[in-house]
Amino acid sequence: MAGSRGRFASRLGFILAAAGSAVGLGNVWKFPYLAGAHGGAVFLIVYLGFVFTIGISVMLAEFAIGRAGEKNPVGAFKHLKGGAWTGVGYLGVVGSCVILSFYSVVGGWTIAYAVKTAAGMPGLTDAKAFGGAFAAFVADPLQPVLYHLAFMAMTIAIVARGIERGIERACRLLMPLLFVIVVVLCARSLTLPGAMAGIKFFLNPDFSKLTGAMVTAALGQAFFSLSLGMGSMITLGSYLSRQTHLAGSALWVTSLDTLIAILAGFMILPAVFAFGFDPGAGPGLSFITLPAVFAKMPWGAGFGTLFFVLLAVAALTSAFSLLEVVVAFLVDEKGWTRAKAAYGAGAAIFLLGVPSSLSFGAWELKLFGKGFFELMDYAASNVMLPLGGVLIALFVGWVVSPRIMAETAGEDGRSFSLAPAWRVICRYVAPLAIAWVLISGL
Ligand code: TRP
Repeated sequence: MAGSRGRFASRLGFILAAAGSAVGLGNVWKFPYLAGAHGGAVFLIVYLGFVFTIGISVMLAEFAIGRAGEKNPVGAFKHLKGGAWTGVGYLGVVGSCVILSFYSVVGGWTIAYAVKTAAGMPGLTDAKAFGGAFAAFVADPLQPVLYHLAFMAMTIAIVARGIERGIERACRLLMPLLFVIVVVLCARSLTLPGAMAGIKFFLNPDFSKLTGAMVTAALGQAFFSLSLGMGSMITLGSYLSRQTHLAGSALWVTSLDTLIAILAGFMILPAVFAFGFDPGAGPGLSFITLPAVFAKMPWGAGFGTLFFVLLAVAALTSAFSLLEVVVAFLVDEKGWTRAKAAYGAGAAIFLLGVPSSLSFGAWELKLFGKGFFELMDYAASNVMLPLGGVLIALFVGWVVSPRIMAETAGEDGRSFSLAPAWRVICRYVAPLAIAWVLISGL
């Protein structure tokens, strides 16, 4: 049975697919604006602390659950334990829909900006004008919704075709290219006059900025960026071969993801300060500063277009893993065909995303004091992801510990060297820390 579900051919293929899921808008778009809004260096320190303790541990737990269960998240929990624990799988399916709904809106922006940059943004030279252009674009009732539709349509088309060799091959080629472009843009941003203030902001901590809201945001971002808590990594792990070393893979994926986030910080924040923007500007930050950086570069239009195309690709490889959770559930548990599941779930998620897109100006809907987009993002990143994370850690640490310990052991049956620390994190550190952050955040 396991054989018919398909498997990753190599460890590299798996690491690239998991890194493709992890590396996305969370790194390039979200991380810099959160760091900007939450004091820069302090945010970075807290974020790194979470990533390399709780984050990496939960990722390993998800890989192990997935490979042990060989199913979608609902099926995996059912297979390993069943009962109320199956609810963690459902949380992942619902949460993946919520995240993809607003993720796709921003994915649409990247496509729009690829088009706009290629066409040239005539008359825009002054950095402030890019801010105005962005505000006008997202407030439009139609354009961003159509780009959101385009992004969702591409995601559906890819997922409907199955664990596509095309996307794996595309990742192998395009992810390194994205990396190179990010490094080039870092170099440009870091050498702008006035960049130093941004570097200081990003590296020189001001501990008076250490607040509860900031710690909550850092934890949420650690989960978001590593694709944790919602079963993406469980689903990917279910296609893994027995020989693959899980702990080493988790370290690779976590490190790659962190590297790209830090580089994105160096790409955006110095430019923010050089052009005199407000680092706390929110979700529009990268879409305003980067075009201003491109405008100041030789061949800026070319670099800009390439950058946004690659960013759209990185977003697609992440969106793919979100929709795959829902599709794997509908196929494994409900017996739907893959195509029906991809189109049905994709259409519903598109509709859920429309109010998010409109909430940037076209539709003044406020719930709990937040716009719809903000509310979806907050509910997912700051509540559902950490909640999923706590439950996964508790499940692995207490409920199915021996089975999962065996799953992460090498072929000789010996545990990896940090296994005792991992167990302590899953049992105590992660649940307590996340519960504390969740409660103080609410
Ligand atoms: N990690 C991706 C990013 O940084 C987004 C993502 C994919 C995600 N799958 C996820 C976020 C599951 C949370 C949960 O862009």
